Amino acid sequence: MLAHRVRATVTGKPYFFNRQGLRLRVFQEINARIAFDNYIETGTYLGMTTHFLATTARQRGAQVHSCEINAAFHSIASSVVGNMENVHLYHGNSVDFLQSLAATVSQGINFFYLDAHLGVEVLPLRDELAIIRDWPNSIIMIDDFKVPFDEAFHWDKYNEEREISLPYIADSIGSGSVYFPSYKAQEEHVAMPRGYCVISMSEHYNKVLDEIQLLRRAK
Ligand SMILES: C[S@@+](CC[C@H](N)C(=O)[O-])C[C@H]1O[C@@H](n2cnc3c(N)ncnc32)[C@H](O)[C@@H]1O
Repeated sequence: MLAHRVRATVTGKPYFFNRQGLRLRVFQEINARIAFDNYIETGTYLGMTTHFLATTARQRGAQVHSCEINAAFHSIASSVVGNMENVHLYHGNSVDFLQSLAATVSQGINFFYLDAHLGVEVLPLRDELAIIRDWPNSIIMIDDFKVPFDEAFHWDKYNEEREISLPYIADSIGSGSVYFPSYKAQEEHVAMPRGYCVISMSEHYNKVLDEIQLLRRAK
């Protein structure tokens, strides 16, 4: 019953990407230019972004893989999106999840949404990136990321060592290029806009991201 109510609440409503309309446009602009085979999310939570990604992926016959470490959230998400034919949900740690996908999807064209960081003791972000940086056709969006030139975008900082920011990931992305929103946080028109970055892992995809005016390259 609870799962039924959650499903009715989260599907069909714009809760994905923290309800940020310009972030959605950035995603749509990337998605229109790159024919992704897979959409891969870490941190399913209740399945809100998973549901959005699944409806997007369905239009081109692509798959969605998402993992959640918390058993209760995984169970709720299973009732929300588990019956969608292109959704594959995993219960467990995001690092193990990405390792388990490597054999089947690492050579595909992949959009990642790295969002496994809510009340975490261990921040898996660097380990996630260390796995996927060698997957050549990857675009990676990281949520809750510090936008260096606009602190009105909120980000996650757990302590002095663990802050979701460029210095924190710099050694984990190889030659990847990092892009930030080129617009101001206020233009998202939500109460607490969350920062993010988009990373391209190839020169070819750098050219694609360079075309998107809502993004600017930082590295
Ligand atoms: C911010 S929420 C994700 C929100 C979701 N992506 C959305 O857009 O609706 C973060 C989730 O990551 C999960 N999480 C935290 N650490 C994780 C890990 N190492 N592996 C998998 N999931 C993790 C948390 O339990 C939580 O449900």
